[in-house]
Amino acid sequence: MGKIIVFANQKGGVTKTTTTWIVSAGLKRRGYKVLVVDFEPQGDLSDSVKAENEKYVTSYELIKGEATAEECIQHLDVFDIIPANQLLYNAELELIEMGREHKLKEALDSIKDRYDFILVDTPPNLGNLTANAFTAADEIIIPTTAGKYSVKAIKEIHLSIKQNQKYCSGKGYIRGLLFTRVKSNTNAGKLMQSVGIDICQQLQIPVFKTTIRETTAIENAQIEQLDIFVLNENKELIADYNALIDEILQGEI
Ligand SMILES: Nc1ncnc2c1ncn2[C@@H]1O[C@H](COP(=O)(O)OP(=O)(O)O)[C@@H](O)[C@H]1O
Ligand SMILES: [Mg+2]
Repeated sequence: MGKIIVFANQKGGVTKTTTTWIVSAGLKRRGYKVLVVDFEPQGDLSDSVKAENEKYVTSYELIKGEATAEECIQHLDVFDIIPANQLLYNAELELIEMGREHKLKEALDSIKDRYDFILVDTPPNLGNLTANAFTAADEIIIPTTAGKYSVKAIKEIHLSIKQNQKYCSGKGYIRGLLFTRVKSNTNAGKLMQSVGIDICQQLQIPVFKTTIRETTAIENAQIEQLDIFVLNENKELIADYNALIDEILQGEI
């Protein structure tokens, strides 16, 4: 049975999309069967891997029940993907009318056992799409930068996940907070990281030992539409992501 891992944080720019992309590519390279669900209307992840998101059905049709997961999946070399485009913005409102937070979970049920991992990228808010992702999740990873406001956001997302567990019977537990875009040599960064770790301790949120460093290599990967393992430009960044994948895999068979 595939494990559904959701990457979420209501803040933008904290590397949800990048981390979903790179971790998924890394897991596939290690021989796992991987599906990515692009559940973010900007469709950046779909774009990063050159998925076709105009001609075929996407996560919008999936969530609306107009297409099955099987029909939405594109098989790419990097991994399988259900892409997204801007139509998904409509779902944010339409899901209120449908009154359901279980749509994504139900839609993935039929294909869940074909994969080892299903990784879901989410929008920068705690709206209906993110609620659907929480309900579907087995595990939730919260990427964050170490800024003042990013650290504050941890409390809000924690509350949102707890509410989802209570009202939508979401089983997803917080696998960990991940510090990304870390500038190792700034005192302010180190201070905010330690504030974040304190909040996590209070809320009993685990924190990944691995941190992902700040580097321009990510931008190059996006421009080239090639993941960092293929581009092979920045060995330290590759090592960071490999260490993260090792941590994610701890406890897996
Ligand atoms: N390790 C990194 N170092 C520097 N920039 C990064 C890193 N990871 C991602 N970025 C950049 O940060 C920006 C936000 O990343 P993105 O993954 O889109 O965040 P989110 O999905 O949370 O909004 C992008 O422009 C991306 O290129
Ligand atoms: Mg994003």
